[in-house]
Amino acid sequence: MKVLGIETSCDETAAAVVTGGREILSNLVLSQLEEHRAFGGVVPEIAARAHLDHLNTLIKAAMDDAGLTFKDLDGVAATSGPGLIGGVMVGMMAGKAIAAAHDLPFIAVNHLEAHALTPRLTDDLEFPYLLLLVSGGHTQLLVAEDVGVYRRWGTTIDDAAGECFDKSAKMMGLPYPGGPNLERAARACTDNAAAQKRFPLPRPMFGRKDCDFSFSGLKTAVRVHVDALPEGQLKADDVAMLASSFESALCDVIVDRCGNAVQRFIDTYNPKTPTLVVSGGVAANTALRAALQNLATTRNMAFVAPPQKLCSDNGAMIAWAGIEHLRLGHKDRLDFAARPRWPLDPEAEPKRGAGVKA
Ligand code: KG4
Ligand code: ZN
Repeated sequence: MKVLGIETSCDETAAAVVTGGREILSNLVLSQLEEHRAFGGVVPEIAARAHLDHLNTLIKAAMDDAGLTFKDLDGVAATSGPGLIGGVMVGMMAGKAIAAAHDLPFIAVNHLEAHALTPRLTDDLEFPYLLLLVSGGHTQLLVAEDVGVYRRWGTTIDDAAGECFDKSAKMMGLPYPGGPNLERAARACTDNAAAQKRFPLPRPMFGRKDCDFSFSGLKTAVRVHVDALPEGQLKADDVAMLASSFESALCDVIVDRCGNAVQRFIDTYNPKTPTLVVSGGVAANTALRAALQNLATTRNMAFVAPPQKLCSDNGAMIAWAGIEHLRLGHKDRLDFAARPRWPLDPEAEPKRGAGVKA
């Protein structure tokens, strides 16, 4: 089985071809860094137009890279939500058009599910597994029980972790995209203990019994430290120390929240090989991966983190989610309406204040 995957839900235009045998035949990602840099963040209308400008060329290049024509495909999968709706519509309509023109099944992919299923593409992981989904728009702890079946045990009650990275980076004067630049800045700090002493930061929700997250207080605390520094361009040393202290605070709370979920997961499912998985853009963060690996080791769990290229948005994860559904005989109608909100667990209670992130 060969499926074309199309991703356009945020600022990456991406297309890929993946096989049912978990082979990635092509995987092209075009980041719109330059288009958004001047604004310090993603501008939805600019993103949608940039997807429109580049998507057709990128799809052709992905097909050429895979050495295939549309006739060789078994299906077309496109992100159909959640995300910035203008961009989602561009990719979804392109996918539907190819499916209609070549009489192929179309699969409307939930972007979050694609992140959630990535470890089955990279590591052939079996259900159930405990999943920390950390991206620019979401931070959730879920159990992946089966394709299309997810139990949400925790979510952010305010900002997502990626958003906290991006906004904190911006306050530190680091360029867009914030997450990777903040990580790079933190790496320049040679004394993390001194950094935490000089820039102490809160650990919101730490020690609570549930699995929810909160990051807005951490972001505000970064603001307070930045405001206390001399005005003007911040010194590179100060930024490195603040970034290092920030990563420690964020990792500490995430590990604490995941720790609660680990116990509940083992008690509820008693799995043969309990596995903790991290996915989504923030899963590219080296400090977070190391902290989660450490948690898994101390709790006798396996740990899976997809390669960094497959953690941030890409077309291969969309193609793979399409394959998972197609194998079960699922396909979608060509009048499927794009969904700006599309929770993985429709039964999970919405959190006050979490807005679209719930
Ligand atoms: O999954 P993703 O590519 O897009 C969404 O679905 O949101 O995640 C993007 C987020 C951004 O907030 C970005 O700053 C963050 O992932 N990110 C990182 C790193 N790489 C990407 N955050 C921290 N450290 C990184 N290395
Ligand atoms: Zn994503």
